[in-house]
Amino acid sequence: MKILVTGGAGYIGSHTCIALLEAGHSVIIADNLCNSRRDTIDKIINIAENEVTFLEIDVTEEQAVDVIFNNYKVDGVIHFAGLKAVGESVDIPLTYYYNNIVSTMILAKACQKYGVNRFVFSSSATVYGDNIVPFVETMDLLPTTNPYGETKAMSERILTDIANANPEFSVALLRYFNPVGAHESGLIGEAPNGIPNNLMPYVTKVAKGKLEKLRVFGNDYPTVDGTGVRDYIHVLDLAEGHVAALDNLKEGAHVYNLGTGQGTSVLELVKAFEEANSIKVPYEIVDRRPGDIASCYADASKAKRELGWTAKHDIITMCRDAWSFEKNYED
Ligand code: NAD
Ligand code: UFG
Repeated sequence: MKILVTGGAGYIGSHTCIALLEAGHSVIIADNLCNSRRDTIDKIINIAENEVTFLEIDVTEEQAVDVIFNNYKVDGVIHFAGLKAVGESVDIPLTYYYNNIVSTMILAKACQKYGVNRFVFSSSATVYGDNIVPFVETMDLLPTTNPYGETKAMSERILTDIANANPEFSVALLRYFNPVGAHESGLIGEAPNGIPNNLMPYVTKVAKGKLEKLRVFGNDYPTVDGTGVRDYIHVLDLAEGHVAALDNLKEGAHVYNLGTGQGTSVLELVKAFEEANSIKVPYEIVDRRPGDIASCYADASKAKRELGWTAKHDIITMCRDAWSFEKNYED
């Protein structure tokens, strides 16, 4: 199939493009490079030994999106393009609502106009809010604490309503848990601008000596060692999850958790990183970060049952691959 991958130059999108190419699909990337670099496209081509079409386009611009669908016979869309910094979304909510929701609506509109019925959407475990773990797809969603989370919940709702009204429209709403790691080549990975917000990129910067020490946000949560528990998933497994979702699309909108089902605490992750890479990660315990929850991990059984997909990489491999990328990466 010819798949339009919005945000394909980004962290998860670039790994997914490789997985799609390796599975025999062809790929058109639409990305405005607001949080990624053009040279990632060349790296995708090198790793997958295959061509991709790259269009530097803002997918909130309806005319530009129309031109894509008019010029290429698109069989399906994977919509990664979006802004994702939780804290920033509180400071500039309109930018987040506009970018993340308008892009979803414009792409869905183009799909309707051009008769494209396959749509895969990047959602997030954040839509579960502070629910009881493990998170299951059938749970009622709780309010999220930030505009970013709301854009995911709203986009899910919009796509579900469209699918309900147009039964031939097949949508997979993929709720990612915490993607980490990088391609085993060390060529592509997560490269946030400035000081990272997320744990793994912060840990790799500390290991590299770019940041002095990790601040562990709270050790008084009701968890195994008091630090926050998350379901870290290797980005290569996540990428494969998209291929599986695309191959198993069915009429209507269907939600899938993409996680491992395993919780790992902050201190367990630090220990795994030190073990995997024989490198010390100095840390200190500081106050809780506002808005954080104690535990977040998936019930990943639905994706296994319906998509035949499970995550394969363990936490040691995630830490090893995250570090191989960071070691070689020039800011
Ligand atoms: P990323 O920032 O690396 O990739 C997003 C890409 O989208 C970037 O290349 C950016 O340039 C592009 N983009 C943003 N707005 C655009 C627009 N209007 N038009 C065209 N391109 C645009 O982020 P990522 O980690 O790869 O995340 C991909 C998707 O997965 C996002 O929708 C994100 O919200 C979602 N998600 C990410 C995580 C995570 O922890 N990384 C967790 C859950 C969900
Ligand atoms: N943490 C630290 N120190 C840091 C950074 C994080 O102790 O410097 C802790 C957090 O308190 C939390 C854990 O590490 O307990 C993971 O934090 P991240 O910021 O890496 O990830 P979050 O679970 O907070 O959020 C991420 C994405 C969201 C997404 C969510 C989905 O940032 O966009 O996963 O589960 F919605």
